[in-house]
Amino acid sequence: MSATLRVRVWRGAAQGGFQAFEVPRHASQTVLDVVTYIQRSLDPTLAYRFACRVGMCGSCAMTVNGAPRWTCRTHVDNVARNDALEIAPLRNLPVIRDLVTDMREFFDKWARAKGQFQGKLTRKDEFSVVSPASPKRKQADAGIECIGCAVCYSACDVVKWNPDYLGPAALNRAWTLVNDERDTAREGRLQAVAGDAGCHSCHTHMSCTERCPKHLSPTAAIAGLKRETFFAFSK
Ligand code: SF4
Ligand code: SF4
Ligand code: FES
Repeated sequence: MSATLRVRVWRGAAQGGFQAFEVPRHASQTVLDVVTYIQRSLDPTLAYRFACRVGMCGSCAMTVNGAPRWTCRTHVDNVARNDALEIAPLRNLPVIRDLVTDMREFFDKWARAKGQFQGKLTRKDEFSVVSPASPKRKQADAGIECIGCAVCYSACDVVKWNPDYLGPAALNRAWTLVNDERDTAREGRLQAVAGDAGCHSCHTHMSCTERCPKHLSPTAAIAGLKRETFFAFSK
């Protein structure tokens, strides 16, 4: 292992190019450490985004040597090839500047997939009780830990081919709500995900599931939506 890492970093927006930097290596260095070193010591104009640095917020996601990842949880030793790294913004999202993407269309798709919980209780009612053993609760639990980082969305080729496709995260969110026994918007949600840009466009490539840093399976959630929309609308 060399004492220096050769790093190519995307500069610009849709138009731009890679800029080369040399960064000193050290033990347990993360890709986010590398980007931070470049911004603090080599070029303060580099734009990037992070918040928690411990794998909780998802805001540090970037494309590292061709694959979307949380940079704060990615050790350089695990991804550097021949002492080199290439760091780019997430794919499938507009680039605002350098490593910062515009997340609006990603979250707009959550809204289009009706990813908002709609309950019927008021604050005067007792809490709903949903048994942890309930099969629906288990289905919802399987996808509930999504933090909206867009790593899966960036990995999905169908989003690349069809920019209208709702994508794995929004569909995973819809599936958690379809299985939420307290929710009252099930039919409208199934309608929202059954259209041309919805669950039936998924080609089951599994890239989303392979890349999700939370080890969720949007592919399984989408398969559930395919099944439920078939039963709901084939009568
Ligand atoms: S499903 Fe996983 S990869 Fe996709 S947004 Fe949620 S946490 Fe991120
Ligand atoms: S399984 Fe479906 S949503 Fe996931 S990456 Fe493949 S095509 Fe996209
Ligand atoms: S900075 Fe929060 S997950 Fe990386």
